[in-house]
Amino acid sequence: MAVRKRVEEIGKKRPVTVEINGQKYAFEVEPRLLLVHYIREYAGLTGTHIGCDTTNCGACTVLMDFNGKWKAIKSCTMFAVQANGKRIITIEGLAKDGELHPLQKAFWEHHGLQCGYCTPGMILAAAGYLMINPNPTEMEVRHGISGNLCRCTGYQNIVKAILAAAEEIRSSGKPVIE
Ligand code: FES
Ligand code: FES
Repeated sequence: MAVRKRVEEIGKKRPVTVEINGQKYAFEVEPRLLLVHYIREYAGLTGTHIGCDTTNCGACTVLMDFNGKWKAIKSCTMFAVQANGKRIITIEGLAKDGELHPLQKAFWEHHGLQCGYCTPGMILAAAGYLMINPNPTEMEVRHGISGNLCRCTGYQNIVKAILAAAEEIRSSGKPVIE
């Protein structure tokens, strides 16, 4: 009886409040719910993709605020309850005032995608990396996005796009994420 009570207690829904792209979302969710499912199914932001659910592909990458520092994280690798109180940026929140982010523009201009399935995660992983290394070499870009898989492009144009975006961001003098 005591064990059953304990199991019921562990499985009880918990309130999770998250700010995604500047908007507050608050839902009661099971503790086992992954953050990626919270983003897609509860917040309805389906630009964040799921390719594996096992931390391999990076399709679920989003940016999360850690004490004022944005970092790229794989949202299938975190429970929604662990994100309670956090700020998140998904691909839907990257464009500002109707203007694509330099990374989005560069992926467009350099044909950095084919089917597009990996693209949201790839762009957010690139944003996370450029915040660490704003002036990367080609090899460094390849290393920086090595946690993200693309099954179509062969990576060549993705790398070109990220290098072009890095240059544009540097010459604009603006931060990667404003
Ligand atoms: S869905 Fe998260 S790493 Fe593949
Ligand atoms: S563009 Fe298809 S998986 Fe990358």
